[in-house]
Amino acid sequence: MVRQFRLRPLPGSEELAGSSDTIIDRRQFMRHSFNTAAGVITMASLGSIGFASLLMGATGSSGGDSAVRFWVPTGAEDSTWYGDRHLEAMSYSAFVDAAASSNTGMAGAQGVWSGLPVNVVYVPHEENSVTPVAMNKPRFQFVDGYTESGKYVGSGYELDEDPTLQALSIHDNLIVIFSRCTHLCCIPGWQLVNNDFTKQQWSPGAVDSSGNKLFCICHSSRFDPTTIEKNRNRNRSNGAEFDFIGIRRTGGPAPVGLPLIPWVMSGDLIEALPDFKDWYTYCD
Ligand code: FES
Repeated sequence: MVRQFRLRPLPGSEELAGSSDTIIDRRQFMRHSFNTAAGVITMASLGSIGFASLLMGATGSSGGDSAVRFWVPTGAEDSTWYGDRHLEAMSYSAFVDAAASSNTGMAGAQGVWSGLPVNVVYVPHEENSVTPVAMNKPRFQFVDGYTESGKYVGSGYELDEDPTLQALSIHDNLIVIFSRCTHLCCIPGWQLVNNDFTKQQWSPGAVDSSGNKLFCICHSSRFDPTTIEKNRNRNRSNGAEFDFIGIRRTGGPAPVGLPLIPWVMSGDLIEALPDFKDWYTYCD
């Protein structure tokens, strides 16, 4: 039997395109999962065939299977700074250039890596972390993580303390984030919709009310790409719990945040690594 979900529209949220009903099945969820004001992307169109088997791309200097590529949602060609780069391998310099024209110095983009949806976000951490936090200049923040029930899991600082997490150490002001919502697996977006959560603004303290959040349009969950924590998630298929390092969920029905994906620079290209692939299967 096809599993069905009941959507919970929030006040003021846009109605899901093409749906007059709030009950949809898993396939429909996938259809809606990259839903923006402009268009819809499906996992099928990403060519996703089974996560783990696609996570073993070979590193190459010309954008091989390990390359993280831009993904331009249909209809967002004119509204995103990377609108003419669909499936082009992401270069680091492209983010530096885009960040230079942002009033926060941040830049983000939707992407795809080995068939998986990702978000890539540049944060001018190295420059800004030496300024007083009260100046509201974006930087990475490392915080304690707690489960939904309030149980302490760990600290984002473990990134630098635990040798097994070394591949995830933040470098070059940029992070790659696995982009499946921990609520019901839609794909959060970076500034694909305009609201108070996505406006170009940053405030310290991982507060939900300031801007620059990844926003999941399905039920309005928010995630702060500048706040790094350790937290715990659960695989939907087998119930197995696992701890991960990721960005913090700041609001909405998602129980926890989104895991980070380690990456390396290959020349000017951004390439991701499959070191923590078990963290990316919770929606399987
Ligand atoms: S799937 Fe429900 S908020 Fe993201």
